[in-house]
This record gives sequence, structure tokens and C-alpha cells, in this order.
Amino acid sequence: MRPIRRLRGELMATVELRHVSKRFGPVLAVQDFSLATADGEFIVLVGPSGCGKTSTMRMIAGLEAVSEGQVLFDGKDVTDQLPHDRDVAMVFQNYALFPHLDVYSNIAFGMRLRKVPKAEIDSRVRRAAQMLGIEDTLARRPRELSGGQRQRVALGRAIVREPRVFLMDEPLSNLDAALRMEMRAELIKLQDRLGVTTFYVTHDQVEALSMGDRIVVMRHGRIQQIGAPTELYEQPANVYVAGFIGSPPINILSGEMNGDELRLPEEKASLPLHDAALRAAAEAKSPLLLVGVRPEHLRLAGHANDDGAYSLRGKVDTIEPLGHTTLVRIELPSGRYVNALAGEKVRLAMGDPALVSFRPEHLYLFNPSDERTLLGLAG
Ligand SMILES: Nc1ncnc2c1ncn2[C@@H]1O[C@H](COP(=O)(O)OP(=O)(O)O)[C@@H](O)[C@H]1O
Ligand SMILES: [Mg+2]
Repeated sequence: MRPIRRLRGELMATVELRHVSKRFGPVLAVQDFSLATADGEFIVLVGPSGCGKTSTMRMIAGLEAVSEGQVLFDGKDVTDQLPHDRDVAMVFQNYALFPHLDVYSNIAFGMRLRKVPKAEIDSRVRRAAQMLGIEDTLARRPRELSGGQRQRVALGRAIVREPRVFLMDEPLSNLDAALRMEMRAELIKLQDRLGVTTFYVTHDQVEALSMGDRIVVMRHGRIQQIGAPTELYEQPANVYVAGFIGSPPINILSGEMNGDELRLPEEKASLPLHDAALRAAAEAKSPLLLVGVRPEHLRLAGHANDDGAYSLRGKVDTIEPLGHTTLVRIELPSGRYVNALAGEKVRLAMGDPALVSFRPEHLYLFNPSDERTLLGLAG
């Protein structure tokens, strides 16, 4: 199916935020936020609680005044426009359905207020309900629905508005894990079909990676990085993004350059660097470096210096079977731990000596002074 709007030959919206900040008294909730979307793009805002995601959404919607900066829709400044005039639809974590109205009336509510003709209301409600697979719940009240169905009704109410922009703030966080997965997939398909520019908020990096065309990683009100999922994974801007994207998080150790070798003195290990890694290390302007390697790149089997692989010696601390993989925590000589995700069967027991190895191309390097990335993965 073609996007409804495109079918009707109407223009959709691009959204731009220019150096937007939000202050609540002494709290700087959002600082210097700049982003320009493509038409129909799916943008995900992700970051820990309190990092400014909801404040950003509310400023896009016009529900919150910006303290500094501008918001533009289709290149037109809407900074001082009321929410009503911006033509955005929001879906929140609590669906805020009317308990005394049936599903049909919940979805039709806004259109009835705006005196949309009855036949038009009916066709939009039915089309949305069909898209969401809730046609047979139209006569029920919200309390007679499952959590997933209620979420669909809230989405239906947003869809029938045929807005220029969708804003969804943690819309799935009240659902259980299996249902979240299912709804996640459906939302991706739905957004693709409608083609409406969407901002989606989550604190879950897995959800962010799976849904976003581009992801905005936020922390303390500031954008850390904007990028496509693989970009954030392979070329994180800094230690924070490297740690936020990926689960379990990337392992970070301290190293020191000595000639062409990266030494991890506390771990009694030494990694000979070549080419790109050497050039990256030289940019730090100090011999001290932070060394990163992701759990999924650490191998437990193998021999020391196996075909050029880097290796670290330690002992097995804990072993957690996760089904198709096993998470093994290794204690290194310094007393620090690294996590390794083993795809193969683990033949180790707690307390066993362990050798973990990884390929040189899986090495990340960071500058310890500002935590910026010096070396990521080649794309
Ligand atoms: N209405 C408000 N008044 C005062 N402080 C607020 C208000 N709304 C949000 N904040 C503060 O702004 C910061 C960002 O909040 P918020 O945007 O809700 O973050 P998130 O959605 O990422 O959890 C937090 O420190 C929060 O306490
Ligand atoms: Mg929030």
C-alpha cells in the first residue's frame, strides 16, 4: 500500500530543530539540540531517564515553549505556533483512552470534535482499525482490551488524524517483552506505510537500533551523537555512546603506547598495533589510551597469539547461559572484569584459567582526556 498522504498528493513534513535549549528554572533540560529530518524519516531519541527526551518532544509538539533556538516544519518557523496549528499527533506511554467510550468512539473522538463528516470519520476509523488489526474490537470498551490492543487503539487515534508529524514517547513501555517485540515490528511497518515523519522516544537501545533510520543518543540534555544504527555501533563518537549501544556493553581497559605496542600493564598484556590503529593512537597526543572491545568479539577458545589475534589472560568469574549464547565474565589480573559472549558451547567452569582473544580489527581506542573515539570499526 502507498502512503495515504502521498496517495492524496499532499506534502509531508520535514522537521528541523536549530540550537534548541530548554530551561526549567535552574535545570538545563535540553542544550543546543540541532537536527534536520528528511521527509518521512523515523528518528529515535534514546538515552537514560532525565536526559531530556520528553522535553524535546514537547517542544516539537509546541506543548512546551523553547528557551532558545527555533523549531521549523518544512522550513517554516513554527517556534511560536500553538500545538493545534502544528498538526502533530502524539502517542504516550499511558494511552489516555476514554474509559466510558468504545474503541470506535475513542478513535473517532478528535474528528468528531473537528466536525469531520460522518462518512469520512467512518472510513478513516475502519481503515485505521484494519491496519492495526483491531476491527473486531470497535464496539468494546478499553477495559475489555489487552494491553497490546489498547496500545493499538491509541495508535489508531493518532493515525486517523493524518498528521504531518508523529511523536511517540515510550509508547511500548507498558507492554510485556513479547508484545513489545511484536508491536515494535508493527510500528516499523506502519510508519513505513504511512510515510509520516516520526520522532520516537525510548530508553531501550535495542528498541532504538531496531526502529530508527537515525538515532539521537542523548545524555544530560546534550546530543552525544546522531547516526544510523550501524554507524553508532561501529563508529561511536565517544566512550558513552560506545557503552550505550550494544548489550552487554563494550569492555573498557586502560592502555599505554610503547613504540608500536599498546601495553595493558595492569593486565600483563601487550597488543602490537598496525596501520590505522597506530595512526589513531598517535592522535591522542599522550601515550595513555582507553581500549575497547565488545563482548561479542571476544573468543574464549583458542591459543595465545592465534593467527595474529590479541589475547588476554584471566580466570572465569561467572558463566550465564542465555540460550543461544553464553555470557562469561572473566576476571583479569588487575581485578577488572571483561564480558565475553560465547556462541559456541563453553567448556569452562568458574575459577578456571581462561584465555580470551579478539581480532585486531575489533579494537576500539578512545582518548582518556575527553573520552572521544580515536579508532572504531571499519565499516
Ligand atoms: N516541567 C518541568 N519542570 C521542571 N523540571 C522539569 C520539567 N520537566 C522536565 N524537567 C527536568 O528536565 C530534565 C529532563 O527531563 P525529561 O525531558 O522528562 O527527560 P526524559 O524524558 O529523557 O526522562 C530532568 O532533569 C527533569 O527533571
Ligand atoms: Mg520521558
